[in-house]
Amino acid sequence: MRILVTGGTGYIGSHTVLTLLEAGHDVVVVDNLVNSSPEALRRVGELAGREAVLVEADITDEAALDTVFSEHSPEAVIHFAGLKAVGESVQIPLDYYFNNVAGTISLLRSMERHGVRTIVFSSSATVYGEHNPSPYVESMEIGAMNPYGRTKEQIEDILSDLGASNPDWRIALLRYFNPVGAHPSGRIGEDPQGIPNNLVPFIAQVAVGRREKLMVFGGDYDTPDGTCLRDYIHVVDLAEGHVAALGYIAEHGGVHRWNLGSGTGTSVLEMHAAFEKAVGEPIPYEIAPRRAGDLPAFWADPAAALADLGWSTTKTVDEMCQDHWRWQKDNPKGYSPA
Ligand code: NAD
Ligand code: WQD
Repeated sequence: MRILVTGGTGYIGSHTVLTLLEAGHDVVVVDNLVNSSPEALRRVGELAGREAVLVEADITDEAALDTVFSEHSPEAVIHFAGLKAVGESVQIPLDYYFNNVAGTISLLRSMERHGVRTIVFSSSATVYGEHNPSPYVESMEIGAMNPYGRTKEQIEDILSDLGASNPDWRIALLRYFNPVGAHPSGRIGEDPQGIPNNLVPFIAQVAVGRREKLMVFGGDYDTPDGTCLRDYIHVVDLAEGHVAALGYIAEHGGVHRWNLGSGTGTSVLEMHAAFEKAVGEPIPYEIAPRRAGDLPAFWADPAAALADLGWSTTKTVDEMCQDHWRWQKDNPKGYSPA
């Protein structure tokens, strides 16, 4: 298939583009490079032995998207492009609603004009909010807790309405849990700008000497070791979930929702210990106050993805840390020249 990947130079996008190229698909990427480097796609081309086309454009620019659809005739879209920092979304909500929600509307309008009605969308476990018990099941009522999460919820609503309006639409809403790790080659991985918001990139930067120590946000939660539990998923497993979802919606019309997670909760201290094991050296940390907005524990029920897609996670927390560490050690400054 010819596939348009928005946000394809980013962390999850670059790994998915590689998986798509390896599966024999042709890929055109649209990315405005606001949070990524074209070097990621160059390396994906090296690993795959063939290139994806990169078009530097903003998804809010409908004219630019129309040109991409006319010139490249994609048959399906995988839509990663978006802003994703929860704290920043509270500070600048309009930027988040415009970029994520208006950007998606612009993409969908352009898709309609070109008769392309197959889309896989990057949603998030964050849409389950604070009232649902774990494991989260796709049928639960959702209710995000912050502007970032609400952009995901609103986009899910828009896509559901679109699916209801015309049976030609084929829509996959993928709710990712906590993606970590990197391609086992160590050539592509997550390259956060500034201070990392997320746990594993922060631990990795402490391990490589870019930061002094990890602050563990809260040691007094009602969990086995007092720290929060999350469902971590290796980014390569996640990338494969997209190919599986695309295959499913090619055969089945309508709107489908799947959790992409492992079904297991891992604590902050367990993740820290697994990373220390991967590095082979102690990684300094300190228990710090809780971070506002954190839930104590959540994880996926991944049964629907297994039943419908034949997909489940294959990689352990140890592999996530080993691969993340290989990427960080080989690329201490990410894609910037060392
Ligand atoms: P990322 O920031 O690495 O990738 C997003 C890409 O989109 C970047 O390359 C960025 O330059 C691009 N982009 C942003 N706005 C754009 C616009 N207006 N036009 C064109 N390109 C634009 O993030 P990621 O971790 O790879 O996440 C990919 C998607 O998955 C996002 O939608 C994110 O919300 C979602 N998601 C991520 C996580 C996570 O923890 N990483 C979890 C759940 C969902
Ligand atoms: C994991 C655990 C922290 C950093 C976020 C978004 C969510 C989704 C994934 C996009 C928590 C603790 C973290 C640190 C720490 N993104 N922690 N010290 O919060 O589960 O999810 O990313 O959709 O929407 O909210 O992930 O990696 O930030 O945190 O102790 O320096 O690690 O408190 O318990 P989170 P995270």
